Amino acid sequence: LAGPLGTPTHIKNYGTVVCVAGGYGAAPCYLIAKAFKEAGNKVHMVMGARTKDLIFWQDKMKDACSELFITTDDGSYGEKGFVTDVLKRLLTNGGYDLVIAIGPIPMMKFVAKTTEPFGVKTIVSLNPIMIDGTGMCGCCRVTVDGKTQFACVDGPDFDGHLVDFDELMRRNSFYRAEEEHSCRMEAALNG
Ligand code: FES
Repeated sequence: LAGPLGTPTHIKNYGTVVCVAGGYGAAPCYLIAKAFKEAGNKVHMVMGARTKDLIFWQDKMKDACSELFITTDDGSYGEKGFVTDVLKRLLTNGGYDLVIAIGPIPMMKFVAKTTEPFGVKTIVSLNPIMIDGTGMCGCCRVTVDGKTQFACVDGPDFDGHLVDFDELMRRNSFYRAEEEHSCRMEAALNG
């Protein structure tokens, strides 16, 4: 094991922060929300998943923030819809100084698109394909503000309004056929 790698999330008192967690992104989002709260921020959390069974750590989240909003795509728990629906509503009411989003890449892309018209600084935590994690293999490169960055050493946090998400999604699906083959093989072996 090597680590910690990369650049830590910049924790300070921004004022009022919205943490947006999608799927398993809820785990790192919990720790970040807790740290923001301890730094004196007012923290609101929007947590989303496809369905009720995929929501976890709800009690922990309540401790880490002052307001918790939950959405599910299928409406089986919380509000039916996407995290961006709630986020847009919150931003329309105003009073937010920072948004931080951790979750699937399409979710982070649409969080950044949602916050852009409101002019609220938005940090996203990128998860490109990584191999060495030390800046040598180049697998994790992402384009931010037109420049190549390595998520493993320069990130994972970047300004969401400057990330080329479409390129990142293309790069992350590069091995999709092999990944699907691997899943099929594993299912066959287990089943
Ligand atoms: Fe290899 Fe970042 S994972 S350069």
